[in-house]
Amino acid sequence: MIIMIAAVAENNALGKNNDLVWHLPNDFKRFKSLTTNHHIIMGRKTFESFPKPLPNRTHVIITRQNDYNPEGCIVVDSIEKAIAVCPENEDSYIIGGGEIYNLALPFTDIIEITKVHHTFDADTFFPKINENEWLLVESEENFKDDKHLYDYTYETYIRK
Ligand SMILES: NC(=O)c1ccc[n+]([C@@H]2O[C@H](COP(=O)([O-])OP(=O)(O)OC[C@H]3O[C@@H](n4cnc5c(N)ncnc54)[C@H](OP(=O)(O)O)[C@@H]3O)[C@@H](O)[C@H]2O)c1
Repeated sequence: MIIMIAAVAENNALGKNNDLVWHLPNDFKRFKSLTTNHHIIMGRKTFESFPKPLPNRTHVIITRQNDYNPEGCIVVDSIEKAIAVCPENEDSYIIGGGEIYNLALPFTDIIEITKVHHTFDADTFFPKINENEWLLVESEENFKDDKHLYDYTYETYIRK
């Protein structure tokens, strides 16, 4: 399965200045537990937004640069090639950012969205999901607390 995973604000905001605009530790934990030991597909900008590569995951980076070669990562120049290098009978994750979510949506089987219940000033946005194509099958509400400034909901969509 190709699974897209994203944290998305009410206005579809994803991030600003190549960084996230919220901090939700429980969502990070969920992201880590879902993606660990899997291939993760990302755009070059998202890769560069990390302080270092994420442990115990195979990074597949999409770029148009033909001399881009960060150590230990697979580098490709299209979403088709990114998917082709992932093991066929395992789950692989599309982890962003905005450009790559747009490219990858037609190849995606499942979308795991953390809906952040707030509106943010942003420069990168998640594509609009066509409700005729996607079915919400799971929804888990979480409420703000001393570590989480916003309410947030884990939503799972499958292709209809
Ligand atoms: N909220 C979330 O869940 C989440 C998740 C991930 C990222 N983010 C945020 O999203 C932002 C980054 O997203 P972004 O949209 O700016 O960048 P991105 O999607 O991470 O990467 C864009 C880059 O991908 C490459 N690319 C794009 N289309 C391509 C194509 N058709 N063929 C080959 N290469 C292609 C290009 O790399 P080259 O320029 O090297 O050619 C392009 O600059 C950051 O703010 C980040 O924090 C948020």
